[in-house]
Amino acid sequence: MPLPRYSTGAIALHWIIAVLLIGQLAGGLWMGTIPEDNRQLIFQVLQIHKSVGITILLLTIVRIFWRLTHKAPPLPDVMAAWEKFVARVVHVAFYVILLALPIFGWAMISSSARKVPTVLFGMIPWPNLPLPANKPLHEFFEEAHEYTAFVAIALIVIHVAGALKHYFSSNRGVLSRMIPIIEPSAKEKKA
Ligand code: HEM
Ligand code: HEM
Repeated sequence: MPLPRYSTGAIALHWIIAVLLIGQLAGGLWMGTIPEDNRQLIFQVLQIHKSVGITILLLTIVRIFWRLTHKAPPLPDVMAAWEKFVARVVHVAFYVILLALPIFGWAMISSSARKVPTVLFGMIPWPNLPLPANKPLHEFFEEAHEYTAFVAIALIVIHVAGALKHYFSSNRGVLSRMIPIIEPSAKEKKA
């Protein structure tokens, strides 16, 4: 009997968002290394950063809606109770971060005194949030954006460490639920 898997929509959204998020984190950290006098490059890179960030936000809203309307396969019993607990906490934290991180970025630019227009992928004008231009507020969102980015990195490390642990302890059925190219082990197929 085939093991239950996530729906195709959930798998597609998981992997599209995972690739965009890792690229966005790397790109965000790289942005900080561009010399301040290279204003043209900073402007162009920020437009891409804002476009991808808003895309992650919109895809996450779709994903949460999908998650609430499509049942996820249960975590298999090969997982210890504490492993299931950590996995669930990390999943919920991911959803919170995937909303909070781009919203903090959006709030950061919206509360800045310098109103730079945002045009998604050079095509779609994107509004600012209705926030006053206020330095302490802007700095608060800037810090919040930076800290949540580091929380995202920590969650990815824990999540991938869990995935690797299950892969190497032959509980590959846990992974095949989200990574269809991985086969469950023979032991799991019999169970
Ligand atoms: C980098 C960004 C990533 C994010 C934001 C992310 C997020 C998530 C979330 C929220 C779930 C739970 C889905 C649900 O039940 O609602 C999940 C499941 C899963 N993810 Fe990721 N993931 C990421 C990267 C990865 C990577 C790189 C791997 C593989 C090495 C991976 C492997 C899995 C697997 C196997 C599951 C299903 C197992 C389980 O339910 O715990 N993910 N992921
Ligand atoms: C999931 C989506 C996002 C991720 C992972 C992300 C990640 C990052 C990271 C790692 C940095 C560098 C932080 C630092 O060194 O201070 C950064 C900076 C920045 N991000 Fe994002 N970001 C996202 C979404 C957004 C969005 C949606 C916007 C605006 C609409 C935005 C606007 C900015 C700006 C303006 C900076 C430069 C801040 C500064 O110079 O202090 N980000 N982002």
